[in-house]
Amino acid sequence: MTSLAHTINERFTFVDQTEKEDQTAFARDVRIGLTASPKHLPCRYLYDRTGSLLFERICDLPEYYVTRTEREILRERAGEICDLLPDPTTLVELGSGSSAKTRVLIEAILTDRETLHYVPVDVSREMLRTTSVALLKAFDGLEITAVAGDYRKGLCFAENTLDEPKCFLWLGSSIGNFDRVAARDFLRLIRDTMTESDRLLLGIDLRKSRDVLERAYDDSQGVTAQFNKNLLVRINRELDGDFNLESFDHRVHYDEEAGRVEMHLVSKVEQTVRIDRLALNVPFTRNESIHTGYSYKYSLDEIDELARSADLRPQRRWLDAQRRFSLNLFARTDACNLQNPLATAKT
Ligand code: AVI
Repeated sequence: MTSLAHTINERFTFVDQTEKEDQTAFARDVRIGLTASPKHLPCRYLYDRTGSLLFERICDLPEYYVTRTEREILRERAGEICDLLPDPTTLVELGSGSSAKTRVLIEAILTDRETLHYVPVDVSREMLRTTSVALLKAFDGLEITAVAGDYRKGLCFAENTLDEPKCFLWLGSSIGNFDRVAARDFLRLIRDTMTESDRLLLGIDLRKSRDVLERAYDDSQGVTAQFNKNLLVRINRELDGDFNLESFDHRVHYDEEAGRVEMHLVSKVEQTVRIDRLALNVPFTRNESIHTGYSYKYSLDEIDELARSADLRPQRRWLDAQRRFSLNLFARTDACNLQNPLATAKT
């Protein structure tokens, strides 16, 4: 592991905790997933360079209400959120990406307070640098420590390095890409990193009609299909595969009982795909699918239950007017001085 703290200027420090690109892990997971029954591939491999750019495009699609709705709630409620945070607070964002939504919160905080320390955590070094430079240019009172690495590295850094009270941000309903047990376990990990005065602002997508959900993950411009099929492009490029993209369909299904959207790549024909670097032939029957990701949706009761099981106490919840998405502010169950416990507001 590399761990490099590099002070670029008095307002910007870059901490590189990325692992060397692990080709062996990708090769291993592709072999495991494509020789299993049913076939599956971990959704984290969707985010290579092209995949991350395609995901940015998904966030702007008319059908993908998730990003737009969360931004709307943040715009409406940034002042209120800011009032509920200790002064000073360091903002630690897990999976910061382009920080576009967080910008709204940073702006609100800096309207009220003179300075703010922001710690974006992301696996993409490039994205972190570009975003940090732009934010520093826009806000004089901002200081940034950018941490390049995965969520766990970010939590470790926060726990060992940051003294001030913190507000962890985990936005975009990324928690939905964990199954329900893994979501609880990861929330517990965040909770164990928090002190009594820390807070967690968590964006969680809500259960809704099949129609809206299936359209959000199977858009009319085919961007999500391209995003999903990019996984096959990646296998072709990195592992010398011969997947023919035309012979696979992007398919989306909402399992209402489980409360999850499932993404699949379905073989249109009977075929065998060769992956040279794995010395592997992968047979497909017609209509056989590779499962490439889940997106779990929550009811408000399920969110309360999730929080309880992770030893977190809801302090405040905000919903949009159509009750599509929720922003939740949590503290540890043993935190004192909680204002408005359990209050819910709609924009
Ligand atoms: C990143 N994550 C929260 C997205 C979601 O909504 O589950 C990933 C995604 N996959 C297809 N569209 C969006």
